[in-house]
Amino acid sequence: MPDHTLSDARTTPAAVWSVLENLKGDDLAAWRVADVPNRPSALERNLNEGYAFGWYAVCYSDELAVGEVKPVRYFGKELVVWRGDDGKARVLNAYCRHLGAHMGYGGRVQGNDLECPFHAWQYDGKGAVTQIPYSRTIPPQAKRADCVHAWPVVERNGFVTVWYHPENAPPKWDQETYPEVGSSGWTAYKKSEWRVFNSLRNMHDNGVDGAHFLYIHRTADFPDSEITFEGNVWDAVARAKLGTPRGMVDGAIISHNVGPGLGCVRFEGISETLLVSAITPIGPDELHVRFAFTQPVAEAEGPTGGLARALIRDICKQLDQDKVVWDRMRYEEHPLMCDGDGPVPAARERYDQFMSDAAFEAAKGKKRVIRTKPKI
Ligand code: FES
Ligand SMILES: [Fe+2]
Repeated sequence: MPDHTLSDARTTPAAVWSVLENLKGDDLAAWRVADVPNRPSALERNLNEGYAFGWYAVCYSDELAVGEVKPVRYFGKELVVWRGDDGKARVLNAYCRHLGAHMGYGGRVQGNDLECPFHAWQYDGKGAVTQIPYSRTIPPQAKRADCVHAWPVVERNGFVTVWYHPENAPPKWDQETYPEVGSSGWTAYKKSEWRVFNSLRNMHDNGVDGAHFLYIHRTADFPDSEITFEGNVWDAVARAKLGTPRGMVDGAIISHNVGPGLGCVRFEGISETLLVSAITPIGPDELHVRFAFTQPVAEAEGPTGGLARALIRDICKQLDQDKVVWDRMRYEEHPLMCDGDGPVPAARERYDQFMSDAAFEAAKGKKRVIRTKPKI
């Protein structure tokens, strides 16, 4: 018998399942974002390869009011986010180039610009100093854009997002708009969040790992799926017959992803659902995972509301179960694969294109379709 007395509850799936069963409401929400103690270093877990370029969420749109300033930490950096009087969100590195104050704490919005709390230097959204109230001149370097690094910002699908690139190269693709979000027939977002102590690459691998469903999620079977990698786009369709109180229905899970950190999944069959998934690295071994769900109002608030809510609960429960493993695993660079595994090497190749400009160019126009049906 293994001895679990020396380990925390997260070290084995079985132990964690019993923990998860007893976690409800606020306790579950707190568990999802709690620190995981005694983690080996990112280096020891082979998670320190840097960050993939792409668009990433820094907050929800409705968490940033006009005139509001917010400190956030992503990509191992302190950032400051604010919304000007014109309603536009802006993001800069947080430290002022004057004497280094953190502008996310005590900074305030003046018009569309951000005022540093220490000596009131003002920055525009391009990171240039526009005003120093006590000085007759502004140093020439301070007048330049990117005096403090300004992040490209796009607000889309209810998120404020930034473009990350390790050398600050401009955005390589545009973000998509999901028509369901904000549409009158669809509910406001139902939001869940987690801190996952892992790299985005390992979570990305998981998207094609069909076999883990049987063991960590204990699903009875998993459906045939077809995964298409085309340039930077990932499409996956999984179909299965699903048993419901209304009898058997055709179910489908359709994922679509144009980058590494933002994507969507549409669930059809039991209760139509759009999941917008926004995963942003906080550090090399820590991710901020946001799941935002919207469903047709008629289904979510009608007699089928219970089913609609159960589907969301189930998706979140699966992430809880995965998190148990993700929080502790390492990145296995040369994994031993077997027949029945999903196309993990192909998924890794897709992810590689977000780590190097040359790989991104080389992947353009290339298409690969993979059908998976492991035997069990
Ligand atoms: S440190 Fe920001 S104005 Fe002086
Ligand atoms: Fe999973």
